[in-house]
Amino acid sequence: MTEPEKRRRRRLDFLVARLIGATRKDAKQLIKTGRIEVEGHETGGLKAQTRVGVEDAIYLDAQQLEREAGERYLMLNKPSGVVSATKDDYDPTVVDLLEPELRRGLHPVGRLDKDTTGLLLLTTDGEWSHRITSPRHGFAKTYRVRVADPVTDQELASLEAGIMLRGEDTPAFAHDIKRLGNTELRLTLTQGRYHQIKRMMGAIGNRVVQLHREQVGPIELDPALEAGGYRELTEAEVMAFYPARNPPQ
Ligand code: URA
Repeated sequence: MTEPEKRRRRRLDFLVARLIGATRKDAKQLIKTGRIEVEGHETGGLKAQTRVGVEDAIYLDAQQLEREAGERYLMLNKPSGVVSATKDDYDPTVVDLLEPELRRGLHPVGRLDKDTTGLLLLTTDGEWSHRITSPRHGFAKTYRVRVADPVTDQELASLEAGIMLRGEDTPAFAHDIKRLGNTELRLTLTQGRYHQIKRMMGAIGNRVVQLHREQVGPIELDPALEAGGYRELTEAEVMAFYPARNPPQ
């Protein structure tokens, strides 16, 4: 995440509502009645629409609001062999990888195949995960893909032009395809179709042998996380899915 993203600012009522799990209306009321303070801001001047840094300390009745009081957000470097689910009769799940005290209420944001590795977000916040997975927002997901056979320029062009997958009536696309080696590519999807990359590679007569997700929307997998490692997201990372150009009202 870049420095400007860390310094992102958001409306105060939005931040307060998220921190305490209240409605925007209730948050506005708390601000209006002077019960909210923000690090570095004059208390008297605070309004619902005041834009404050997403990492600034916010206080309710002089008590700092901790995000732990509300929703939880994690990133996991998913290893191969675990399923993106909260429960499974046969395989270990991504939730089983977490310390027991962290597991309650967490669900994976979208899915990676059992043998796919890399960035998987987990949260207790249904609205946030819906925003990230909803086709309406079309958040890009970037993958490193290793395939069995070298891919020709023509095949790359057809992946970018769109491929009609069996049983579907609109084409599937891959964007920003870059060659990393003879049989290795980096590509981005903005659709979230079932087994999309494997089926697209199958459609050009190739086969995926390794698939690793590097990025979801504005969030990159933290290089410090080994396979199976996880960490909490920062406030800036959580908020990065709410583009600054179009702040929620
Ligand atoms: N495409 C796939 O085929 N599998 C994944 O896990 C993600 C994208």
